[in-house]
Amino acid sequence: MVIHNTYSSLADTLSYRRQRLANLIDFPVILWSGSSSPRNFPANLLPFRPSSHFLYFAGLPLQNAAIRLESGKLELFMEDPKPSSALWHGEMPKRDEIAQQIGADAAKPMSELEFFLEDAATIAVQDAGTWTQQSQLLNRWVLPQNPLQGIDLELAKAIISLRLTHDEGALIELRKAAAVTVAAHKAGMAATSKATLEAEVRAAMEGVIIASNMTTSYNSIVTVHGEVLHNEQYHHPLQPNDLVLADVGAETEMGWAADITRTWPVAGKFSPTQKDIYNVVLAAHDACIAKIRPEVEYGDIHLLAATVIAEGLIDLGILQGNAEDLVEIDAHALFFPHGIGHLLGLDVHDMEDLGDLAGYEAGRQRSDRFGLGYLRLNRPLRSGMLVTIEPGFYQVPAILNDANLRVKYQNVVNWQRLSQFADVRGIRIEDDVLVTASGSEVLTAALPNDADTVENLVS
Ligand code: GLY
Ligand code: MN
Ligand code: MN
Repeated sequence: MVIHNTYSSLADTLSYRRQRLANLIDFPVILWSGSSSPRNFPANLLPFRPSSHFLYFAGLPLQNAAIRLESGKLELFMEDPKPSSALWHGEMPKRDEIAQQIGADAAKPMSELEFFLEDAATIAVQDAGTWTQQSQLLNRWVLPQNPLQGIDLELAKAIISLRLTHDEGALIELRKAAAVTVAAHKAGMAATSKATLEAEVRAAMEGVIIASNMTTSYNSIVTVHGEVLHNEQYHHPLQPNDLVLADVGAETEMGWAADITRTWPVAGKFSPTQKDIYNVVLAAHDACIAKIRPEVEYGDIHLLAATVIAEGLIDLGILQGNAEDLVEIDAHALFFPHGIGHLLGLDVHDMEDLGDLAGYEAGRQRSDRFGLGYLRLNRPLRSGMLVTIEPGFYQVPAILNDANLRVKYQNVVNWQRLSQFADVRGIRIEDDVLVTASGSEVLTAALPNDADTVENLVS
């Protein structure tokens, strides 16, 4: 269920989360925030992003800090800023001030953490400097890639059970991220007619995010080559017949993410073939969202998208046969090779640092089927979960030119007909959908996705 607690301050939200954790485990927990890594020399650092598990309980993006949680109590460990740092970084808040803001019960220098480690569970932070420190202090390997064991595994499961559904404090942040992301996409559409390169559209979109004092929650995809699923190149010129696929999301200062994709025509008008495929993808998107409510299996939502896409491609003469049978043999995956979506929260693929522990219900494993293997979420939905719905259609040369796949699917694809859709390289439509007690709420609904309105926003 969505927790409508009455807490309004950060400290109260954090206290509420700690109490819930204390109801699940009875051993102490230490969570490190992590540190930023140098880009090329020690004083020139990559942007810092704290560990999400730390952020969930500490609330603020503190660097080189740790928190100890036990029985609902919070202790903060961090050094006060060195006097010399004021010259370069200005006056920074002192440990005691931060402790007060987050409602910590105690605050100590990081150097004292070593006296409070006994029997503590933790989760590996992604940066090597920090997981080395974690391993040294706890005297056991704490590596991001290691399978979790013992109390660390118990801790991970407890945190997952909290973070799988969002409390009121989280939802306030997630709605802010969604609103700014909607504005970024509108800006990208509006900037397209004057842009000559993908990079200019990206700049318009990220400009909105930066101007809101947010960051992107992942590397933006803004490309006329949507068939490259995680394309991070922005140098291509925009041609009048191209589609721009923009997958861009904002992250709030407290670390909560949004994740939206829209696809629009550079010239402000879809060609008939582009519109046909666009409407197939949109039909899958809408059918999936209409089905979202508690208890529904997310895996079934994926199969629904696959079936609607197969039906649409049959109607267009690209696939031949019966939609259910085609999905059974994974023929949809020739054009829709990824999963229908994922959990969204502090991470754009929420809790994916824990492998499939969060995404997959206990006892379930990834399928090795071509059409199911990339499914990131395979659980029954619950009220308070936030998921993406992101069907797509792509003409990926590595798939469509694969000799084995061409033989396997030779009788179900009308290759001649497909060649008439050469101006559709990649289309994806992605929204962020909150599961509610009675169904769902699309947090990103303020961004239109019907073809006509998208055309109008571009022109
Ligand atoms: N932007 C990555 C994704 O949509 O999953
Ligand atoms: Mn996504
Ligand atoms: Mn996305």
